[in-house]
Amino acid sequence: MPANAAYDWDAFNSDDYVAHNYARLSDADRRILELLGEFFRHCEPRAGARGVDVGSGANLYPALAMLPFCDEITLLEHSSSNLAWLRAQTAGFAPTWDAFWDVLAVHDEYRGIGDPRAALAKRAEVRQADLLDRPDLPAPYDMGTMFFVAESFSTSLEEFRTALCRFCEMLRPGALFAIGFMENSQGYVVGGRDYPAVAVDAAVVSRVLTPLAAELDVARIDMGDTPLRDGYTGMMLARGRVT
Ligand SMILES: C[S@@+](CC[C@H](N)C(=O)[O-])C[C@H]1O[C@@H](n2cnc3c(N)ncnc32)[C@H](O)[C@@H]1O
Repeated sequence: MPANAAYDWDAFNSDDYVAHNYARLSDADRRILELLGEFFRHCEPRAGARGVDVGSGANLYPALAMLPFCDEITLLEHSSSNLAWLRAQTAGFAPTWDAFWDVLAVHDEYRGIGDPRAALAKRAEVRQADLLDRPDLPAPYDMGTMFFVAESFSTSLEEFRTALCRFCEMLRPGALFAIGFMENSQGYVVGGRDYPAVAVDAAVVSRVLTPLAAELDVARIDMGDTPLRDGYTGMMLARGRVT
């Protein structure tokens, strides 16, 4: 069965992926950002807090959602093309991400950042890692996000489970996390290349995360005007604390 290593991640076309998914703020991403802002703003402040976004790809909004609460944010990525995109965008992100920030900036915690471009450039570190390889990382992180990776990087349910375990192992006990999932995805195309998925629903996500998390909530996202393209039935957002 083709699994993660069978795909050419270094050929992932970051610009095509952004054009397809994030060129404009969809209703689904707006809803996810509203839920992320509401969730993270209630975290206990911690001096020197460090966050991690896993499989960042060509998406900045999970890192932006952690920005006010972290002195450092690591963006972990496997693909060389996405690493190059992340290095360029964290140094000074494109105007397209302003609309995403504006959803978060209804809250004082985010508005207090002032210039999110400068803050991300200062706090972000882009790092190469293979999630399935037990990445050799410093001390556990204080908060974490992982969006559209565990179910969208392999056709294997075993690798889906491993991704969620490895992600939780990167965080300290009690750390807040938020994980985004495509629901019942059949795979996707980026720049004319096929990429894999494993079809999961809220029951599967809850079953895998329950032993790893406390205060777990798995929400289905109202898709609003977001086109439900062939190959998936919606999106989900899991939030909780690592046990
Ligand atoms: C569907 S994209 C999601 C990107 C982004 N997080 C988002 O929200 O749009 C899947 C991401 O997983 C990354 N990936 C694939 N295999 C990986 C691995 N073994 N370890 C870490 N990341 C991996 C890909 O390079 C890609 O960036």
